[in-house]
Amino acid sequence: MALLTTSIPGGKLVSRGKVRDIYAVDDGLLLVATDRISAFDVVLPNPIPDKGRVLTGLTLFWLERTKDVVGNHLISADRRDFPGSFRDEPSLAGRAMLVRRAEVVPVECVARGYLTGSGLAQYRAEGAVCGVPLPPGLGEAHRLPEPIFTPTTKAAEGHDLPLTFEQTVDLVGRGLAERLRELTIAFYERGAEIALKRGIIVADTKFEFGLLPDDGRRAEDRLILIDEVMTPDSSRFWPAGRYQPGRGQPSFDKQPLRDYLAALKVEGRWNGEAPPPPLPPEVIEATSLRYLEAFRLLTGRELETRA
Ligand SMILES: Nc1ncnc2c1ncn2[C@@H]1O[C@H](COP(=O)(O)OP(=O)(O)O)[C@@H](O)[C@H]1O
Ligand SMILES: [Mg+2]
Repeated sequence: MALLTTSIPGGKLVSRGKVRDIYAVDDGLLLVATDRISAFDVVLPNPIPDKGRVLTGLTLFWLERTKDVVGNHLISADRRDFPGSFRDEPSLAGRAMLVRRAEVVPVECVARGYLTGSGLAQYRAEGAVCGVPLPPGLGEAHRLPEPIFTPTTKAAEGHDLPLTFEQTVDLVGRGLAERLRELTIAFYERGAEIALKRGIIVADTKFEFGLLPDDGRRAEDRLILIDEVMTPDSSRFWPAGRYQPGRGQPSFDKQPLRDYLAALKVEGRWNGEAPPPPLPPEVIEATSLRYLEAFRLLTGRELETRA
């Protein structure tokens, strides 16, 4: 069953994000990836079957493959380790993670290996992305000479704004900013290499970091990786076999949904403000298949049938 919102008897709901329902448990959090989907900054009225379990499955896949670089928030994704009523809630199977609660670092840590989207727009306007100068002559979907750190603000609502490295330093301090940059690039390189062997280009991706409680150590030594990791929601995945610089790439993400919504706007059937109209079954199905395909290619296995 696709899941739009959770309601756990006795659960202490901390917040509902665009995609996740977050509960407080002891001194940790239970992050539940629902099947909600957002595009153009609005959450759509229909759930996308399997999406939440793809996001959680991929995050677990990457956490396992990056944990030698720096610690992360995962305590357990095994329902038997969840407290009380969470343990017995079948709708949480495969989509929930018990994690350490961290103080969220207020920077979206974006790594880019290729130029597209808002990065390309910045490059065209100023020859640089988030203050990182790039060589002339680059265009849509071009590979960068090396991956770059292009952080943004973490806006509570609306669009995140690009930050230069010095602006990041002003926000979080130099020691922490340098560590964020180093880890973001290291995770990206690790992920991009693994993904490429499986036929997927990670064009760009976003990480979030958090700080463990102050125990006298420097902030940069209390840093852990939090949130979701290298999923289709936080990354651009392109099929490597069809890669062709100079044009927009097909991708394993919300493109069918964005195309549908863009057409509604052009036709004047949606003004771009919430709430958008319900999605037709074929858009829901096409989107679900994209997520499942990304999971299958990256992990080399099928997502277990709905349990
Ligand atoms: N270990 C953690 N400690 C505290 N907050 C976390 C942790 N992991 C993720 N989060 C936060 O939980 C939220 C995840 O829900 P999501 O639906 O993705 O929200 P958003 O709409 O902000 O993207 C994010 O705001 C993220 O910063
Ligand atoms: Mg999020």
